[in-house]
Amino acid sequence: MHTDADTIAARVLGKEPRGLLIGGAWQPAARTFPVTNPATGAQLAEVADGGGEETRAAIAAAADAFPAWAATPAPARAAVLRRAATLMLEQQERLATIMTLEQGKPLTEARGEIAYAASFLSWFAGEAERIYGMTIPASTPARRLLVLRQPVGIAALITPWNFPSAMITRKLGPALAAGCTAIVKPAEQTPLSALELGQIFLDAGLPAGVLNIITCQDPVPFAEAIFADERVRKVSFTGSTEVGKLLIRQSADTVKRLSLELGGNAPFIVFADADLESAVRGAIASKFRNAGQTCVCANRIFVERPIYERFAATFAEQVAALRVGNGLDPATVIGPLIDAQARAKVERHVADALAGGAALLTGGGPYAEGRAGNFWTPTVLANVSAEMLVAREETFGPVAPLIPFDSEDEALRQANATPFGLAAYCFTRDLGRAWRMAEGLEYGIVGINDPIPSTAQAPFGGYKQSGLGREGGPTGILEYLEEKYVSMAI
Ligand code: SIN
Repeated sequence: MHTDADTIAARVLGKEPRGLLIGGAWQPAARTFPVTNPATGAQLAEVADGGGEETRAAIAAAADAFPAWAATPAPARAAVLRRAATLMLEQQERLATIMTLEQGKPLTEARGEIAYAASFLSWFAGEAERIYGMTIPASTPARRLLVLRQPVGIAALITPWNFPSAMITRKLGPALAAGCTAIVKPAEQTPLSALELGQIFLDAGLPAGVLNIITCQDPVPFAEAIFADERVRKVSFTGSTEVGKLLIRQSADTVKRLSLELGGNAPFIVFADADLESAVRGAIASKFRNAGQTCVCANRIFVERPIYERFAATFAEQVAALRVGNGLDPATVIGPLIDAQARAKVERHVADALAGGAALLTGGGPYAEGRAGNFWTPTVLANVSAEMLVAREETFGPVAPLIPFDSEDEALRQANATPFGLAAYCFTRDLGRAWRMAEGLEYGIVGINDPIPSTAQAPFGGYKQSGLGREGGPTGILEYLEEKYVSMAI
């Protein structure tokens, strides 16, 4: 069936297979793989399937480019980042359409992601100009102690499909600002947004070899080439905790620096003193952003018993009204899930909860009008217990489990009873409680009455098995800098 999406795809995307960016030029594809639209199942494009050989060529290009880029004055590096951010914003509509086509998120969210992605480039352009060293008072008059900050070297940046542009710029912005050269490997489901970014950086005047992009269907040859090579000093990965653990093991032989942004199991806690309307709106914004496919989406919604029934009824009514469909349709709020595997996981979680005694308030099945895509009807489950899959694992889909609680201590204990610690949310109007929760929640990000705290200006990252290091914020650039201590006897 020919759809609007296919027509727009034909207009926005070229017919030629897309090549790899190595050494400042687009290298023709020896092998290709298809990219499909998760809303329709239609093929959008063919992109190059890079392997070990292409990855080694990208490492060589990044190594050649490193000395000159590291020596480029910080204001000049910053100027390239600022030009790239401007170009992204100028091309926002086209880039957002490509993102919706390959990822599925509604166009309004895709436009928002392009702006979010560009904001990391602007933020880190500023940070490039503030890479200060230190002088430290010495304990003897005849010594001077200095600290210099220098780029780590070549950085391999492995990015996920749920934010096809922003997760690249959140890594690439600080890497380039610090003076590192980079090899980006986007997720196989969403390579097109990454390739568009590659062209934007070339147009912004980034020197050849500073950014290389390897698209591939099978990440193993890429990872083997990266981890075997001494010259690659840094790997930054966003994705599952399972893969993150594998990368920790693989990085041992060449002792690479790692930044890992892994899975979450975010609690969203609503106290009886909260503004109920704003808590319902917040829970919907947090849970259903990108159809529930973010690492910081509310995964368990805890509601204090006195308002539990009222919250559940209002929440379920508003969730039932969320419009599901193709992200190109302006009325769509919930797009498709990324693939059939993602939909199968959601199905398994819902079935397990219902079998365990949870009550279905709305949704609960595939979306009937979207059979060709991987749609799931936004779902609310009541009376969920901690043993159910939906409360133990990250569902990564549009399913909201509601769990009642009776006291602040109980809410905190249940919220922290998980090996994960990325984001947590708390809705309350009690200032003392807000502080106690902010301090007691074992999470890297806490939103107090704020369902979407992510921003380029603040650190993003997790406690426990949710990861290592921070992205964004004033400390994000440190992940790409070495600290060199110089002691000078005078
Ligand atoms: C993520 O899901 O990893 C990113 C979400 C965000 O930046 O808010």
